[in-house]
Amino acid sequence: MTDVISAIRDTQTYIGIPLLHEHWYVAGLCEEFGRDLTSRTLLEKSVVFYRTEAGELIALQNRCLHRSFPLSESKLQGDNIVCGYHGIEYSPEGEIQNVPCQTQCPSGKLRKYPIKEVGPFVFIWMGNPENAEQGYIPELPYLENPQKVSFYGEEFLVDGSYLLLQENLNDLTHFTHLHANTFGATVDSLDESFIKLPLDFAETNGIPGCYRTDDNSDRIKLGLPPEVLAEIGDRKVVNRNGGITVSPGVWLGENFFHVEDPAPGKPETYKIYINHYLTPKTHNSCHYWYSVTTDFIEPTPENSAGMSALFRAAFEEDVVAINHMQKLLEEDTTDYKEINVFGDKAGVLIRRKMLEWVANEYPAN
Ligand code: FES
Ligand SMILES: [Fe+2]
Repeated sequence: MTDVISAIRDTQTYIGIPLLHEHWYVAGLCEEFGRDLTSRTLLEKSVVFYRTEAGELIALQNRCLHRSFPLSESKLQGDNIVCGYHGIEYSPEGEIQNVPCQTQCPSGKLRKYPIKEVGPFVFIWMGNPENAEQGYIPELPYLENPQKVSFYGEEFLVDGSYLLLQENLNDLTHFTHLHANTFGATVDSLDESFIKLPLDFAETNGIPGCYRTDDNSDRIKLGLPPEVLAEIGDRKVVNRNGGITVSPGVWLGENFFHVEDPAPGKPETYKIYINHYLTPKTHNSCHYWYSVTTDFIEPTPENSAGMSALFRAAFEEDVVAINHMQKLLEEDTTDYKEINVFGDKAGVLIRRKMLEWVANEYPAN
């Protein structure tokens, strides 16, 4: 039984909660998967991926039913996998098609995982396949719009629980310290008064988000490019930024700049979408991808490369922090007490939500 109070109060207990299978998670980038057999461990299950000759992406249990040989170390014959150990052949549905040393095929089937390709990402359902259609999967149309600067990161492999990263994303108070050399360095006035701005926790579909509103036009304008500043002139700008854990492995963020009484034909809102996709590898490690899209910066290769380098450097700071925290949580386990501060409010609300998801998936827990 998960002790809700302890899990909310104590990070070590919290990151020990069961993995959540009945949700869609990112398995990788569409472009990563082709006619090679590729394996990836997701939610403590090894999965083998490949595309059929017609291009359909297949995800199967990466463990031969005979003697646990990894099918990713095998070969494709047409659309079938032939196990590299004794040659048992499997269809894209996971059915046994041929056993070289006998005429009859034994019963048994590899587990097949539902897959959806959304924008540049492959999403996978690791739970009961019958429930997959009801699961929430984000729409990401802006990631496919060539009019926008858009990029998605190569995967980070994190030596820490995805729950620590989710909490990091719902914590808007670490920018000026952890990101002092990246986000902090780009806007001189990202100072104490910025992190003291009020937070709100607006809910979407019963899930609390975490947002901050800044109406200090002078500070906001320090972070905007000259083309946008030329369009805005001396009009007032209000920035609202933050995001929401829409499912255990997906955090959708936005950084919007609202202009009061914009010039004719000019936008009322300049938008940046910043999304993070976290998929447990094991309890204590995770895969981490991200995407960033903006509708107000010209999509030149230079602009994309510059933004990509800045965001990646900042997100890497989060990864390093999570790696340190996981290590400490594992190595130093007694005689300590954590405190909560106001900036943790969204993180605590999300701990509650995660525990609700645990209770839904494990009703007897
Ligand atoms: S282990 Fe795969 S055929 Fe024997
Ligand atoms: Fe961060």
